[in-house]
Amino acid sequence: MKAPSANSAKIITASPAGIDKAVAALEAGKLISFPTETVYGLGADATNDRAVAAIFAAKGRPRFNPLIVHLPDIAAVAGVARLEGLALKLAQAFWPGPFTLVLPRLETAKISLLVSAGLDTIAVRVPRHPVATELLRRFGKAVAAPSANISGRLSPTRPEHVVEELGNRIELVLDGGLCEAGLESTIVRVAGDRIELLRPGTITPAQISAVAGLPVVSVHEDENPSAPGQLKSHYAPRAELRLNATAPEAGEAFLAFGQTGIKTPNMLNLSPSGDLTEAAAHLFAMLRELDRSGAPAIAVMPIPAEGLGLAINDRLKRAASPRPQEEAAYEQA
Ligand code: TXA
Ligand code: MG
Repeated sequence: MKAPSANSAKIITASPAGIDKAVAALEAGKLISFPTETVYGLGADATNDRAVAAIFAAKGRPRFNPLIVHLPDIAAVAGVARLEGLALKLAQAFWPGPFTLVLPRLETAKISLLVSAGLDTIAVRVPRHPVATELLRRFGKAVAAPSANISGRLSPTRPEHVVEELGNRIELVLDGGLCEAGLESTIVRVAGDRIELLRPGTITPAQISAVAGLPVVSVHEDENPSAPGQLKSHYAPRAELRLNATAPEAGEAFLAFGQTGIKTPNMLNLSPSGDLTEAAAHLFAMLRELDRSGAPAIAVMPIPAEGLGLAINDRLKRAASPRPQEEAAYEQA
């Protein structure tokens, strides 16, 4: 175990005062960790683009895979996603609990586009851990939270695990002791009367089948989790993308990064100061906006291939590659 450094996050008791501190940190756009019945989450305000970008930076993920959004109850979920039919039936059976539904995102949802990593779906969960529930109630907004580990490591089930790995990158950890389940939530997507298991977890296929009266189709990919073919709804701009462009050509929209003397119509800047977290926060919204301009192509300036720049470049490359664009969002996260 590494010795905690002076600026390491504190594990704080989940008393009303402790939860108030966590809420204040979320409101300030900071990262916190909180217990759920599965594993500890690395939480941020899901409506704050920069806070969501900071999650990816803290985990050191080389690409943007979508995050689960946590809400206190079914009514709150219905405010961000379309929840009806079979999906609603499963929600009523398994929420609150270790169960995540991938649902169509509402156009009106105020959730950061980065949470969905450009997909038009959103993964939602209503946890049943009392500390998580209380935090979500008091915060009153959605909390985006992957497991609170560095990318590629094991999911944490004790507050000390979180401090060891992420102590210098987060504000605080709410103490919930040992997580009851110790295994991530089950992730399910409903397509008509087909129930797809995207990630096996605490709730078993047999439990789901018993509620739905239908079989559960496993579509997770153990051997090759990033293989293409799972998701048809990944956002790719209609316009062509021209990467590593130093200037736009006639008619092109322009996505800039850092200082540039260029002035052209249909130009947006991911981060005039060259800040990669700010750039990640703006990426999906700016791509969409430039695409809406109707330009046949979007020229994109080079982004440094370091830190969050790796994930930004990964996403840009995939948006630039020939259609059809299909890829798996399921990954070890
Ligand atoms: O138990 C859990 O689910 C924990 C606690 C903190 O809630 N969270 C968790 O999150 O395991 P994370 O980020 O480590 O895993 C999220 C998984 C990823 O495999 C991701 O690809 C998938 O959810 N996912 C998220 N949004 C999705 C979407 N719109 N479509 C398909 N898969 C999605
Ligand atoms: Mg994870």
